[in-house]
Amino acid sequence: MNLVLIGMPGSGKSTVGKILSRMLCMPLVDTDAMVEAAAGETIPELFAREGEAAFRDRETAAARQAAELDNTVIATGGGIILQPENMAALSATGLIFFRDRALEDILGEDHMGRPLVGKDPDKLRILYTQRIELYQKYAQYTISHTKTAEEAAARIAALYR
Ligand code: S3P
Repeated sequence: MNLVLIGMPGSGKSTVGKILSRMLCMPLVDTDAMVEAAAGETIPELFAREGEAAFRDRETAAARQAAELDNTVIATGGGIILQPENMAALSATGLIFFRDRALEDILGEDHMGRPLVGKDPDKLRILYTQRIELYQKYAQYTISHTKTAEEAAARIAALYR
């Protein structure tokens, strides 16, 4: 069974994933890193060259590949919930955890490498409003009110054991 982390950009999925992977001695993959490795380009480069729709197709391919793994922590890009087939594939082989980090904390992160957010806090607020229901819908467990990534990882590990 995989452990799949979903949530907003800047909610700390990759950081929580690293801690969780160490805690549980499970390998870690990240769908953003899979897309970048397959394309040989960074996400901002892909968005600039191909646009968002092409990125979403690449992300779906990465989600399918990740879903074929087992006993792996899977950190995902914030938009993974936009395509139902991604979540169908990932939930077939994994438990889905939504890290519902407070919007104010997310706003405090650096979003420069994120083409859909960049420097504009309003873009993040809009994404949050548009997506919150989807994160909740797909999550088996919502990890909220956890200030630190360590706390979030510990909560997930406790639920999994
Ligand atoms: C995106 C989030 C990013 C990355 C891409 C699109 C989104 O991942 O997949 O820039 O639509 O929310 P992170 O959530 O890891 O920043």
